[in-house]
Amino acid sequence: MSAVHICEVGPRDGLQNAKHRMPTAAKIEWVKALAAAGLREIEVGSFVPPKLIPAMADTAEVVKAALKIPGLKVVALAPNLKGFQRALEAGAHKVTFPVSASRKHSESNVRMTPEQMVEEVRKCAQFPHAGVEIEGAVSTAFGCTLQGDVPEDEVVRIAAALAEFCDAVALADTVGYANPAQVKRIFSRVKREIGDKLEGAHFHDTRGLGLANALAAYEEGVRAFDSSLGGLGGCPFAPGASGNVITEDLVFMFEAMGASTGVDLDKLMVARRMMVEVLPQEPTYGHFALAGVPKGFRAAA
Ligand code: COA
Ligand code: ZN
Repeated sequence: MSAVHICEVGPRDGLQNAKHRMPTAAKIEWVKALAAAGLREIEVGSFVPPKLIPAMADTAEVVKAALKIPGLKVVALAPNLKGFQRALEAGAHKVTFPVSASRKHSESNVRMTPEQMVEEVRKCAQFPHAGVEIEGAVSTAFGCTLQGDVPEDEVVRIAAALAEFCDAVALADTVGYANPAQVKRIFSRVKREIGDKLEGAHFHDTRGLGLANALAAYEEGVRAFDSSLGGLGGCPFAPGASGNVITEDLVFMFEAMGASTGVDLDKLMVARRMMVEVLPQEPTYGHFALAGVPKGFRAAA
């Protein structure tokens, strides 16, 4: 089975929505532990106005510390040119832009229409950024808690617009509305439109379908997944959004199937315990963490 690449988004998607703050030093130790478990890509924070999301105010410091970890791709989210410039200054290897397919979520999240946000990302792509990768993530691509249905044609149209100037495009189920049949349908439609520019899948486990959706995307040829340790996460500007697909469970599923992730489950549990110690009141999720490794389990070669 072909290998999968996992981007850990807990330090960004997880902590932006956490009720309790993780101190900067603890964030850095956590990122180190995640990298030590074999995660080769980590979204360590976002460059948004600190007044809006105080938990992300220290992202530049976290990026700088993460850059010292050998072999790690350091990712940050940015919502506009100002955020992109801050990310470049800090030295991020890759910057992700959230572009909602839902008009209502777009206005709530970035105070721009989807069209204005596409133009904002275009401006960033035209700004000198040698060696830095740009990813356009189509958020609320499977439905929206504010708007309800999100037309599939809108998702395809936005993905195609982003593919013109982004290095990669991802589809995100920001609020956990997706189901596997829909995932297959939309990924295959977008793939027909933009080919290999379509890379990542970002799922939330709000209705328990995170793993099923990840598997459906895998069967459609997707090999890059976002996930969050302990299932932390959610968008503060999408009511009802909860945590991401759980990294431990995702790694376990793929490894058990024979699709290598490069991630060591024991070391991942060390990173999980570290996170729980710092944020003891934050709810965490995951079946693997409760049940442990099955007898005779062998990780993928
Ligand atoms: N980083 C830091 N400061 C920023 C900034 C950024 N990326 N973007 C704007 N600002 C500052 C401006 O300089 C301005 O400061 P001032 O009041 O001191 O002059 C202030 O924030 C307002 O700027 P404006 O351009 O009017 O932004 P806005 O208030 O319309 O907000 C976004 C637009 C996009 C910045 C904001 O909605 C946002 O950050 N959204 C992302 C939310 C998020 O992280 N969601 C979850 C992840 S998907
Ligand atoms: Zn998310």
